[in-house]
Amino acid sequence: MNQLLIWDFPIRFFHWSLVILMGGLFYTGFTGEMVWHFKLAYVVLTLIFFRIFLGFFGSTYAHFNSFLFNPLEIFTYFKNLFNPQMEKHYLGHNPLGGLSVIVLLSLILAQGISGLFTTDDIASEGVLYSLVSSKTASFFTTFHKTNFNLIIAMVLIHISAIYFYLFYKKENLIKPMITGYKITEENPILKPVKMWVALIFLLISTLLVVIIVNLPILLKLFK
Ligand code: HEM
Repeated sequence: MNQLLIWDFPIRFFHWSLVILMGGLFYTGFTGEMVWHFKLAYVVLTLIFFRIFLGFFGSTYAHFNSFLFNPLEIFTYFKNLFNPQMEKHYLGHNPLGGLSVIVLLSLILAQGISGLFTTDDIASEGVLYSLVSSKTASFFTTFHKTNFNLIIAMVLIHISAIYFYLFYKKENLIKPMITGYKITEENPILKPVKMWVALIFLLISTLLVVIIVNLPILLKLFK
């Protein structure tokens, strides 16, 4: 048996920071504490950009192409979900898990971007609200509210799936997402991402969000 590092620090940092921040966003969204809602949203956007970098240049199982499977493989995995003899084992995300990760990341990215253009027609406006027409802003506002329900649904499915694996399949996926390690008979060659490279991705992601948030000022300056 080998103890393999599947989820390196950048992925674990991304995941658990996202969980805390999403909790904060749900809370501030409900209570109407919009100053904090916006601040947390900028950090979430930064994290999502960071995750996109890791999806191309991160460690082996962070790569999008390590968990983007073709529809047939996803269907076959789903068909054999309750058939342990036929079920194939995956060290990183399985085909269904991979699909749900892509959906979750896309929904959160769309939520963050749409939030930049929204308005509550009273006191709060997204930082890019002034750049679009009121019709476009109204579209983004409706989208932001609808997409929120989809995120809630996906998070509930995500957490239920994790507990389905824990109690029905007797596979603890939570521990590896905390420690990073999985115990397995397999011995693949793993490519971790260097910490300084991850830090550069994080800095670039932060810079991208700073530019987005200050876009109206920058556009005025360069006009
Ligand atoms: C707001 C709540 C949550 C969000 C938005 C979220 C999002 C995600 C995302 C995006 C991934 C993919 C990780 C990556 O490859 O970058 C993931 C994986 C994972 N999450 Fe969450 N998560 C949430 C809550 C939780 C909670 C509460 C738990 C634990 C009970 C959990 C356990 C896991 C595990 C174990 C994985 C790895 C699954 C696997 O082995 O394929 N998540 N989550």
